[in-house]
Amino acid sequence: MEKLIFLLILLFLIQFAISIASSNETDQQTLSAFQNLITSLTHFLANNWTKNTPFCSWFGVTCTANRQRVVALALPNLQLQGTISLSLANLSFLSVLNLQNNSFCGGIPYGLGHLPCLRVIDNQNNQLNGSIPTSLFQHRRVQVISLAFNELGGEMWKGPWYVPELRVINLRNNSLTGVIHPSFGNATKLLNFSLFGNRVSGNIPKEVSNLSQLAFLFLFDNQLTDEANMVTNLKFLSISNNQISGCNPSNICQLIELKVLSISFNNITRDIPRNIGCLSKLKIFLIGENPIKGTIPNSLGNISTLQYLYCGNNRIVGQIPPELGKLSKLRELFFDSNSNLIGQIPEAVFNISSLEVIDFSFNNLSDKIPTTTGLHLPNIKQLILGVNQLEGKIPLFITNASKLDKLV
Ligand SMILES: *[C@@H]1O[C@H](CO)[C@@H](O)[C@H](O)[C@H]1NC(C)=O
Ligand SMILES: *[C@@H]1O[C@H](CO)[C@@H](O)[C@H](O)[C@H]1NC(C)=O
Ligand SMILES: *[C@@H]1O[C@H](CO)[C@@H](O)[C@H](O)[C@H]1NC(C)=O
Ligand SMILES: *[C@@H]1O[C@H](CO)[C@@H](O)[C@H](O)[C@H]1NC(C)=O
Ligand SMILES: *[C@@H]1O[C@H](CO)[C@@H](O)[C@H](O)[C@H]1NC(C)=O
Ligand SMILES: *[C@@H]1O[C@H](CO)[C@@H](O)[C@H](O)[C@H]1NC(C)=O
Ligand SMILES: *[C@@H]1O[C@H](CO)[C@@H](O)[C@H](O)[C@H]1NC(C)=O
Ligand SMILES: *[C@@H]1O[C@H](CO)[C@@H](O)[C@H](O)[C@H]1NC(C)=O
Ligand SMILES: *[C@@H]1O[C@H](CO)[C@@H](O)[C@H](O)[C@H]1NC(C)=O
Ligand SMILES: *[C@@H]1O[C@H](CO)[C@@H](O)[C@H](O)[C@H]1NC(C)=O
Ligand SMILES: *[C@@H]1O[C@H](CO)[C@@H](O)[C@H](O)[C@H]1NC(C)=O
Ligand SMILES: *[C@@H]1O[C@H](CO)[C@@H](O)[C@H](O)[C@H]1NC(C)=O
Repeated sequence: MEKLIFLLILLFLIQFAISIASSNETDQQTLSAFQNLITSLTHFLANNWTKNTPFCSWFGVTCTANRQRVVALALPNLQLQGTISLSLANLSFLSVLNLQNNSFCGGIPYGLGHLPCLRVIDNQNNQLNGSIPTSLFQHRRVQVISLAFNELGGEMWKGPWYVPELRVINLRNNSLTGVIHPSFGNATKLLNFSLFGNRVSGNIPKEVSNLSQLAFLFLFDNQLTDEANMVTNLKFLSISNNQISGCNPSNICQLIELKVLSISFNNITRDIPRNIGCLSKLKIFLIGENPIKGTIPNSLGNISTLQYLYCGNNRIVGQIPPELGKLSKLRELFFDSNSNLIGQIPEAVFNISSLEVIDFSFNNLSDKIPTTTGLHLPNIKQLILGVNQLEGKIPLFITNASKLDKLV
């Protein structure tokens, strides 16, 4: 009990100390310091941020109602140039910082990660360089960290992450290196994680499976290796363009929410799981440009939502299952350059009216293209069947295809 009272008094004293140490005058000075480093103040802003109007009425500034302290600074899309003043770290009540889509350069002030109320930092689409303040990875309240489309470099934070409130972290299109620390599994509220277009290496830590809310995982275009693990709530999984050699297929049916699965341009050798048909919401399935082996599972035909199926440049063998003809929403179908697909192309494939592109070129398909009457490909634009052993006449459904612009 005594301890508790002592703690409460201490807490009160700290709060009191903070409020006298910094006041709304500090905020005014801080904003002016920030303004001074902007080299391209638009006429509008220069006339608006003036000393003779209270700073709480300045454009882009939001204050607390009672104490007149800055809680949000939002200046997106203004073509602002210059560096971000280190003094911003003195806005001790700042909760939202949004400078996205400007031309700020230089580093992100380290102290921002120490602002106790910070919830959103969105500085995407600038020319910021240097590294990400590591303090942002250990922030108890931060919910959104968006630093995409900058020139940030260096290693990702090597120490343990502790960001229990983090929902969105978007670091897309920077030059980050290093690895993803396993403790990112502590960020259990994470919904969106994007590292798209960096140079991050190592594996995707198995702790990803602790992120039960995670819906979007974009790791496209990095240097990740090793087995990828799965998370149950994912809607969008992209690990294309890495050096990943395994993709744990045994639990594929856990990914029941998946709409997009993109694993192309890797080093994955495994077969397509027989039970892939359990992914009943899948719309986009990209697995091309891997050394994937085995045959095409019949159950693929059960994914009635499927629109894009790219499976070119793999090492798939055997026949094309007639079940593919059941994919009534399919728009693009690629099985080119697998070398050893054999047999006939099932007739039903040539009667999927939504199809725009069919590519079975560079295989060992034989037999005739079906000439059955009543087949229709009204939307076909590209029909690419070259370099096979196909024979026979060009059927009616091709000569009738008015949108066709490529026939090989
Ligand atoms: C700062 O706060 C005090 C009261 O807390 C208020 O009287 C004063 O007008 C404020 N100054 C500005 C510039 O908002
Ligand atoms: C500055 O902009 C804000 C928000 O648009 C506006 O309310 C305020 O009147 C402007 N102040 C001046 C001095 O132009
Ligand atoms: C970025 O800001 C410019 C104006 O500075 C605007 O024209 C453009 O639409 C903005 N882009 C985005 C993606 O918001
Ligand atoms: C923050 O404020 C303190 C005191 O008001 C000042 O001494 C210091 O220079 C400020 N820090 C920055 C980075 O501007
Ligand atoms: C960041 O860019 C500026 C030029 O805009 C350069 O002077 C500085 O050295 C760069 N810093 C880092 C860490 O790359
Ligand atoms: C974060 O996760 C690591 C395991 O990766 C664990 O050792 C650590 O205790 C966790 N930290 C917190 C604060 O939960
Ligand atoms: C992941 O969850 C398991 C239990 O479900 C727990 O033991 C482990 O510490 C968690 N790891 C992280 C990094 O949060
Ligand atoms: C997550 O990312 C997706 C795709 O970029 C986007 O549509 C969605 O709005 C994001 N969600 C949040 C909460 O930011
Ligand atoms: C994103 O990065 C890629 C290279 O990784 C580059 O090709 C692309 O142009 C970048 N996009 C933007 C909008 O900067
Ligand atoms: C692909 O994986 C094989 C082993 O499975 C390995 O020998 C090869 O070096 C890998 N290739 C690349 C480009 O990572
Ligand atoms: C496709 O779905 C039907 C009906 O749900 C089921 O009976 C059949 O076994 C499935 N086919 C495959 C190959 O999984
Ligand atoms: C092609 O599909 C249409 C319906 O879209 C159907 O009426 C027709 O019987 C099918 N033709 C063949 C040969 O399966």
